[in-house]
Amino acid sequence: MCGIIGIASNDNVSSNIINSLKKLEYRGYDSAGIAINNNEKINQKKVKGKLDNLIYALQEDQFDGKVGIGHTRWATHGEPSDKNAHPHSSRSVSLVHNGIIENATELKKTKEVRDYHFESDTDSEVITALLTHHRREGLSHLESIKKTITILEGSYALAIIFDDNKDTIFGAKNGSPLVAGTNGVENSIGSDSIALSSVANRVCYLEDGDIAVLDNKNIEIYNIKGDKANREFVEIGITESDVSKGEYNHFMEKEIHEHPLAVGETFRQFIDYDTGIIKIPNLNLDFSKISKIHLIACGTAYYSCLVGKYYFEQYSRIPVDCDMASEFRYRDPVIDSNALCIFVSQSGETADTKAAVDYCRDRKIKTLSIVNVKNSSIARDSDYCLYTKAGAEIGVASTKAFTAQLSVLLSMAIHLATLIKSITIDDNKKICKEVMQATQLLEQAIERSYSLKDVAKSITKAKGVMYLGRGTSFPLALEGALKFKEISYIHAEGYPAGEMKHGPLALIEKNLPVVCIVPPGPLFHKTISNIQEVIARGGKILMITDDETLESNSENIWEIFRLPKCPKSIEAIIYSVPIHMLAYYTAVELGNDVDQPRNLAKSVTVE
Ligand code: F6R
Repeated sequence: MCGIIGIASNDNVSSNIINSLKKLEYRGYDSAGIAINNNEKINQKKVKGKLDNLIYALQEDQFDGKVGIGHTRWATHGEPSDKNAHPHSSRSVSLVHNGIIENATELKKTKEVRDYHFESDTDSEVITALLTHHRREGLSHLESIKKTITILEGSYALAIIFDDNKDTIFGAKNGSPLVAGTNGVENSIGSDSIALSSVANRVCYLEDGDIAVLDNKNIEIYNIKGDKANREFVEIGITESDVSKGEYNHFMEKEIHEHPLAVGETFRQFIDYDTGIIKIPNLNLDFSKISKIHLIACGTAYYSCLVGKYYFEQYSRIPVDCDMASEFRYRDPVIDSNALCIFVSQSGETADTKAAVDYCRDRKIKTLSIVNVKNSSIARDSDYCLYTKAGAEIGVASTKAFTAQLSVLLSMAIHLATLIKSITIDDNKKICKEVMQATQLLEQAIERSYSLKDVAKSITKAKGVMYLGRGTSFPLALEGALKFKEISYIHAEGYPAGEMKHGPLALIEKNLPVVCIVPPGPLFHKTISNIQEVIARGGKILMITDDETLESNSENIWEIFRLPKCPKSIEAIIYSVPIHMLAYYTAVELGNDVDQPRNLAKSVTVE
């Protein structure tokens, strides 16, 4: 959510900044901007809209200089416009900001900046105003930053350049992510390691309160006390192919095709190939004492928690609560001292989820995170961490991270259930064998899902779509509806199939598409009865099932999409494929920007 970059080099940096902004665009695409220090004069260009608009605008100008900063914006304060785009600059300072300054309105009224001519509606510009004031008062670059951040309330990751310091970039972090990187000849700071992947091979994850000072030779980091901090630099671990579309038209398409790899790699961490059982290694946590589990996350990650609740309760018989992170801490939850709070996040930076981790940590509640991005804030803030091995996810709509999250949650549930003996070792072995089929079944599911292209063509004309399911297919229905609406812009709702008659059935009218997720099993016939109620009212049914007996015996069964036969334990993982594919094909058919849907951004670092 907003991407920032700063590069100090011994060569012109503008093309590298643009390159990094391309990699950051998934964090926001309302506007983009760049500022370069060219011999103690800052030149800047910023424009509304996508990065391409900035690239086009830059063609008219020469932007030389060896130190520069850049920004892609997801608007919070002030509409997307040229004037609200970053950088925000005065005559002496220019900066880019990710986060929210909560006391910006009050700060703008203080005597230090009362006379400053604000050009934008943003909260960020007050930082420029304060820095300008402190520089005018004679403070050094570093001291002016220190003094400014002591009065900021809220979150920020900043990259700052000064007109009279043509070699140096300053970074500051509180709440929002900031990474410093180096490749030996140039140094950089940015919102994430993806942004730095073409200008750094080693990176360091800054901590709250840190200030970074970098030129093309050195990076110095000062901690919150102002002391020089010796932070560890690690291999970046991202290759160019991780962050490019390769043979695919969209990142989302590539990432759906990576479901098998993401799930396979994730499970591989938890399969003991010698004994043939699922087990979580190297986790110094006594699972046997856990009285209750709280699963907490946002969006798609929250839906993976809803599936996880079924896994934990079914296999380990331990009670589970699920919370949306944005609600969790505000409802003053009752949490037992032997409870475990599990936080699920692809980015590891989602502000609400991070705040929920901090809430638990402050109360000495055990925290475990399941994240995809190594060394992300949530991973570092929690007591224990397990990784999904989905690789970089760039498409704003989360896909492969979802199935990887399900893989970790299932593995944890089986591990815990085995420890507390609510399942036997033989049960574990059986499920482990089933888990080992996941990659192949996902590949087959992808292959079969190409046929959904035709369904997508006719669904584009619908004014709304409903998704129904029972059991773990209910959270899948929610996930299907979320994915569908966020990239097709067609209204979609997910419901438990059995709830329809308590209200939502009123929405069914002739030819309304209803996607029904109906795996075989104990709930099969009950779901089919609910579907009959929908058919009787004119709904047009797309069935997703791996049942081999089901036949299209009604003209309102529009299509039966059949998955390969799959074991119950990994059913939700395999059924995710057609759910994601249908959303993808519909959005493509509509000509929408699949990877960067309107009004959204990945990595939601504001509350
Ligand atoms: C939807 C989607 C979002 C994210 C949510 C949480 O397709 O991607 O709903 O799942 O913003 O993000 P993470 O997992 O990074 O915490």
